Amino acid sequence: MNRENELLTLYWKNNQLYILDQRYLPQKIEYRVCLSYSDVVDSICEMSVRGAPAIGISAGFGVALAAREALDKGYNKDQMITYLNKAADKLFQSRPTAVNLYWALDRMKNWLNTHVKESPKQIAEGLTREAKIILEEDLENNRQIGKNGALLIPPRATVLTHCNAGALATGGYGTALGVIRAAIENGSEVHVFVDETRPLLQGARLTAVELVQEKIPATLITDNCAGSLMAQGKIDLIIVGADRIAGNGDTANKIGTYSLAVLASYHDIPFYVAAPLSTIDLSISSGDEIIVEERHRKEVTHFNERCIAPEGIEVCNPAFDVTPARLIKAIITERGLVYKPDREKLNNLFQKV
Ligand code: MRU
Repeated sequence: MNRENELLTLYWKNNQLYILDQRYLPQKIEYRVCLSYSDVVDSICEMSVRGAPAIGISAGFGVALAAREALDKGYNKDQMITYLNKAADKLFQSRPTAVNLYWALDRMKNWLNTHVKESPKQIAEGLTREAKIILEEDLENNRQIGKNGALLIPPRATVLTHCNAGALATGGYGTALGVIRAAIENGSEVHVFVDETRPLLQGARLTAVELVQEKIPATLITDNCAGSLMAQGKIDLIIVGADRIAGNGDTANKIGTYSLAVLASYHDIPFYVAAPLSTIDLSISSGDEIIVEERHRKEVTHFNERCIAPEGIEVCNPAFDVTPARLIKAIITERGLVYKPDREKLNNLFQKV
């Protein structure tokens, strides 16, 4: 795809991070300018930027911004490192489920640990370089995920997706949407069904925007409609992204994903997860260990700032759910497809060069 026509999720220019403020899409295209790591923390917490890989990339640039702040404040090396650790801690706490956040922060810390003898200026430049590399690698990985996953898409297919696992959730191209893009580039005729994805409507506001922009045939549906379409034989396969994949293949993704996987199993429809290795968390053995973010009640009680529920009603608003590995036909990664994912197969993926 021509990157010039693409809405960039984020970019780095003149030592500032520009984050597309996804809260305002599709009505308004506005970039939030981050001058400090705190601006990045706020952008993640307030969901100007969202989607697991995009959160990780932003955090990487957040650390780079912290290094530049330390430089501007005239800090010596020790002061700079203290400031960087503080920034990393704050970024660490910004959202709890997407493991790409911790992956990116670890990577920035590792860079720092191996270059700690360099001058503050060299450290600031090196951390900026490292964040840019994370961004570029994510884009490359998504293209490879696309190539690997496209082989699963028949020449004519209807594909259901949930939330937004597209360019807007990543460094570009997307994971689940990347597979769809690649299949179309290979000549497949794909029609996408897009769950609106209550309560924040990432499907309607973001995925639909990407598909319309690229003229990919698509139909927007309410989340409640998916089961009925499956029963009518209108869905050939389902592809979603992931926020964290546990060592055994259990997968956290946007709330509603688990219901889709159960429905897919009932209707014998293949259910795929597309994600880079940076989303796989081998440090946890199962989905039970994944912390699921609970979000504000207002997301459920209000619609477009209008209250739609009585005051005093209790609300349950988890942002994600966990789909057990047994419901996933394959995980599509940049290193290949993992059918019937389990610990051994996911471990092996990390051994491959
Ligand atoms: O709450 P969000 O919008 O950050 O949730 C995003 C998702 O659940 C995506 O499906 C997931 O991060 C994969 S993005 C490639």
